[in-house]
Amino acid sequence: MFKSEVYTKRREELQKKLKGGIALFIGNTESPMNYPANTYHFRQDSDFLYFFGLDIPGLTGVMDFDSGKDWVFGNDFDLDDIIWMGPQPSIKDLASKCGVKNTGSLLMLDETIREALAKKRKVHFLPPYQGEAKILLGSLLKENPCQMKTLASPDLIKAVVSLRSIKEKVEIEEIEKAVDIAFEMHVAAMKMCKKGVREQDIFGTMEGLALMKGAGTSFPIILSINGQTLHNHNHGNILEKGKMMVADAGAETRLHYASDITRTTPVGGKFSQLQKDIYEIVLKANSESIASAGPGLSNLELHLRACKIISAGMKELGIMKGDVDEAVAEGAHALFMPHGLGHMMGLDVHDMEALGENYVGYNDEVKRSSQFGLAFLRFALPFKPGHVFTVEPGCYFIPELIAQWKAEKRFSGFINYGKIDNYMSIGGIRIEDNVLITEKGHKLLGKPIPKTIKDVESTCL
Ligand code: GLY
Ligand code: MN
Ligand code: MN
Repeated sequence: MFKSEVYTKRREELQKKLKGGIALFIGNTESPMNYPANTYHFRQDSDFLYFFGLDIPGLTGVMDFDSGKDWVFGNDFDLDDIIWMGPQPSIKDLASKCGVKNTGSLLMLDETIREALAKKRKVHFLPPYQGEAKILLGSLLKENPCQMKTLASPDLIKAVVSLRSIKEKVEIEEIEKAVDIAFEMHVAAMKMCKKGVREQDIFGTMEGLALMKGAGTSFPIILSINGQTLHNHNHGNILEKGKMMVADAGAETRLHYASDITRTTPVGGKFSQLQKDIYEIVLKANSESIASAGPGLSNLELHLRACKIISAGMKELGIMKGDVDEAVAEGAHALFMPHGLGHMMGLDVHDMEALGENYVGYNDEVKRSSQFGLAFLRFALPFKPGHVFTVEPGCYFIPELIAQWKAEKRFSGFINYGKIDNYMSIGGIRIEDNVLITEKGHKLLGKPIPKTIKDVESTCL
C-alpha cells in the first residue's frame, strides 16, 4: 500500500466535504464459488482501498464527520486461522498502516451503528454491489438488504467521485506500471498472432503475464478474431489468415490500479490493403483524439470529433455518404462505432462505475443522450488536469446490426449499404490507449505500445 499519510490526507479531504453524520465503507469479503472454503478471487472494494488501503477481506472503515474520528472494524485472526494461513497482523497493526488509531471488532461496529441510529444521526454509505455487503449493511441499518443501493448517500457519492476523479502523483505512477505490464501482454499477443494458433493460447499467455507482473488482469480479457462482438470473451477459435485479432486487455498492479489497452493485429502479421483501409481510419481517430485531449475540451466533444473522423474515412471509402457533421449529429456513424470514445480509469478499469456512471460522467448541466451509440458514452464532462481516460475508437462490421438497419433503410442518406459487404471480413478494429490530462494538455501513459501499421508489422516478425 501507499504510505499512511496518503490515506490520512484523503480522509481529511473527505471530512471537509461532508457536513455531518458518519460514513460506512464496507470492505469486500471472500465469496464462495462452489463450496464455502473455495472462494472467488478476492478483490478489495476500490473505495475502501482508496480511503483505507488495506487489502484483506472482512474489514469496515467508519468516518465520523462531526468528531473527525475514524475507525477500522474487523475481527482479529484466531489460532485456527493462523494454523492455516500463517501469522497474521492484528487489526490494530493493520489500521496503523493507513493512519487510523481507533479499531474494534465487528460486534463493536454493530454497537457503533446502533448508537448512531438511536441518536438519529445520518449514516452515509456508497451503493453496494456485492451480496455480502448488502446483507451486512441491511443488518447494521435494519433495512431491507435489497434496498441498499437506492438508500445510498448522494452526498457521499459526489464527494468520493470528486476526490477519486483527480489522480495523485502516486496513483499516476501506479497506472503507468499497469500500462507497462499491458505493453508486455500486447507485444506477446502480437508475436503469437499467426495462422493456426489458438485464441486460448494467446489469452492464457496474456493472463499469465498479468499474473506474473502484477495482481492479474484489470477485467476479463477480450480476445477474438470476431472483434465485431465488442466484449468477446469466447476464446475458442483458431486463428485464420485474412482475419484480424482484437485483444482488449489490461493489467492491475499490486495496489490495484488498472490499465486498459486494445490492439488489433492481422493474423500473420501483415495487413492486407482492405485491412489497412479501415485500420488507418481508426488509428487516425485514436491519434488525433489523443493529440487534442486536454483542459478546455470535454470528452463529449472529443467523442464527437472521433466519430467525425471515422465517418469521414468511411465516406472516402464510399461506405458512407452525405454531410459528415449531419451524419454524426443524427447518429448514422453508430452503425460502425456504437460505443463511447472512452471512460475514466484508476482503481477500477471503468473508474467508479459502482458509484453510478451518471455521477461520474454527467451532471445537472450535461445529461446523457438517449441516441443509439452516444448513450453508451460513459463520461461527457470537460477534462480537468489529473483526469485519467481511455481513448478507444473502433470500427465494426456487426452482421446483425447491419442487417437490421439495411432492412429498415435506416440513414440510407448517409450509408451505402451496397458497399459494406466487401468489408465484412474485417470483423472489428479497436485501438485503445490510456491518457492523463495535464495542465497544458495530456500525457500518454506508460511505454508506447506498437500501433502504427509499420510498428505492428515489425513487432509481429
Ligand atoms: N475493456 C473494456 C473497455 O475497453 O472499456
Ligand atoms: Mn478496453
Ligand atoms: Mn476501455
